[in-house]
Amino acid sequence: MSFFKKNTGKAAHVIVVGNEKGGSGKSTTAMHLTIGLLQRGYSVASIDVDYRQGTLSRYLANRRSFIKAAGSDIKMPDPYTISPGARDSGQDQSAPKADAEQLRLLLEGGLINHDIVVVDTPGSAGVLSALAHSYADTLVTPINDSFVDLDVLAHIDARNMAVMGPSHYSEMVWTQKKIRAERDGGSIDWVVMRNRLSSLDAHNKRQMETVLRDLSTRIGVRIVPGLGERVIFRELFLAGLTILDLKDAVGPQALSPSHLAAREEVTDLINAIRLPKAPGVSLDTETG
Ligand SMILES: Nc1ncnc2c1ncn2[C@@H]1O[C@H](COP(=O)(O)OP(=O)(O)OP(=O)(O)O)[C@@H](O)[C@H]1O
Ligand SMILES: [Mg+2]
Repeated sequence: MSFFKKNTGKAAHVIVVGNEKGGSGKSTTAMHLTIGLLQRGYSVASIDVDYRQGTLSRYLANRRSFIKAAGSDIKMPDPYTISPGARDSGQDQSAPKADAEQLRLLLEGGLINHDIVVVDTPGSAGVLSALAHSYADTLVTPINDSFVDLDVLAHIDARNMAVMGPSHYSEMVWTQKKIRAERDGGSIDWVVMRNRLSSLDAHNKRQMETVLRDLSTRIGVRIVPGLGERVIFRELFLAGLTILDLKDAVGPQALSPSHLAAREEVTDLINAIRLPKAPGVSLDTETG
């Protein structure tokens, strides 16, 4: 049971970025959401459940180094990472349970201490990922614009481009929705964002649109604006920066049209998430 949601009234909005497909853009999305929300005045905790790759943790560690080296005052979230028990050494059978307990404590702590908790999850099924999903107010699932990625959400009939049935991942999300409802009466708003969209391949894009429309009613997801295929979404990793930080660093006039479009994509994505209003902050404008 979630003690805090039931008894304090004030609880963070939890955004879980999840998809059992590896490399779909979860960590990239988690980082951009985290920075965008900080810039809007929310207090943000990030939790990296993908302790093996630790992409989000490393991205944020790079940011901390940048801040230190450059004497910068750009914002940092409170970053947390799951530290795995002795499971990997094969010596302690209770470790998975301890890991789940650790994650539960981080989530419950985030609920009372922050406005927003952003959770990055691994690209594979697991107990920790499922647990994290059960805490989501918003589940953001990035998918690449390909039927290979779509198959992780639902099985598609190729003859008439229709959704035949849910995938394992969709079933897992439904299970977590039930667990969430039983725990605190809350619900999960599941949004699917298309990632790495390119202006090429208009035929594939149209087919994806048809199937996604069907999907949105069949498995209960909202399709929201996504990110384009842009170098800027990956090239700032080592500096720990995002496109949202660049305006401050170089001034808006120095941003290229592609950079401005990238910023707008992130802004539109954040606007599509139904967030509580931060004190004194407008939801549909950027403050960064
Ligand atoms: N919109 C984008 N434009 C360009 N490159 C992108 C975009 N989104 C993600 N990438 C790149 O794609 C790769 C995979 O992205 P990312 O690590 O965010 O995916 P992931 O879903 O977290 O992967 P994993 O399942 O392995 O954790 C990275 O090299 C990242 O920089
Ligand atoms: Mg990742």
